[in-house]
Amino acid sequence: MAGYLVEDTRKVATHRLIEMKQQGKKIAMLTAYDYTMAQIVDQAGMDIILVGDSASNVMAGNVTTLPISVEQMIYHAKSVVRGVRRSLVVCDMPFGSYQIGRTEGVTNAIRIMKETHADALKLEGGVEILDTVRAILDAGIPVMGHLGLMPQSINKYGTYTVRAKEDAEAEKLIADAHALEEAGCFALVLEKIPAALCQRVCQELTIPVIGIGAGPADGQVLVIHDMLGMNQGFSPKFLRRYADLFSIMTEAIGQYITDVKTEDFPNEKERY
Ligand code: KIV
Repeated sequence: MAGYLVEDTRKVATHRLIEMKQQGKKIAMLTAYDYTMAQIVDQAGMDIILVGDSASNVMAGNVTTLPISVEQMIYHAKSVVRGVRRSLVVCDMPFGSYQIGRTEGVTNAIRIMKETHADALKLEGGVEILDTVRAILDAGIPVMGHLGLMPQSINKYGTYTVRAKEDAEAEKLIADAHALEEAGCFALVLEKIPAALCQRVCQELTIPVIGIGAGPADGQVLVIHDMLGMNQGFSPKFLRRYADLFSIMTEAIGQYITDVKTEDFPNEKERY
């Protein structure tokens, strides 16, 4: 397959991620929200593409992830799936789609899977949502957990600061991580927690732990707009910028504006 930067072009499956952890191979995960970006990320050789509810921030311009709906997540996930051949596609269940109870959670989970053809779902939370996680798993849907900073609970925290610095919250996180693994989750995202705590969870769990702002782990995830430098105002310590697309794009667009206004574009060769 042209374009792939990896030798193994087989579709990534959840069991392969667990094998990767056993073999000490790191897992790369990145968000995408549309067809074109998903094609690029997939063909670059990404293991997991997350259709994150961060779409609420970076695609819709909301301050939090809370406003995004099931319908909007389905739209983004469907677009991503159409562009992907190899990566495992995980779709976030948005705020309000699974917190009410297991019946609503399973109904929404089945709808998202049916309409998007995503490979798996991600839910934020530990023992509080365990019944729902079990019911979704019982429906045959792979689930990725998400602990630490859980952006859907931002109104409870009141701040995006590092979580689980205190013993009580750290102990709860460890207990939640074990509960999610025992329930059958295939992987776990740990967001913005101390590196030592993340290391401990990685060692204690057999499923892969994917970190964001959590130091070394079995894999890493970032929001694509952040790592490509498309967001100028967001620069937390954990973020590594791999490009400055904001500058590259504004420069290119600025050049186009100049060319149109000076009648340099279209030239003789660019017309019929
Ligand atoms: O929505 C998202 O992008 C996420 C990642 C930050 C893990 O949940």
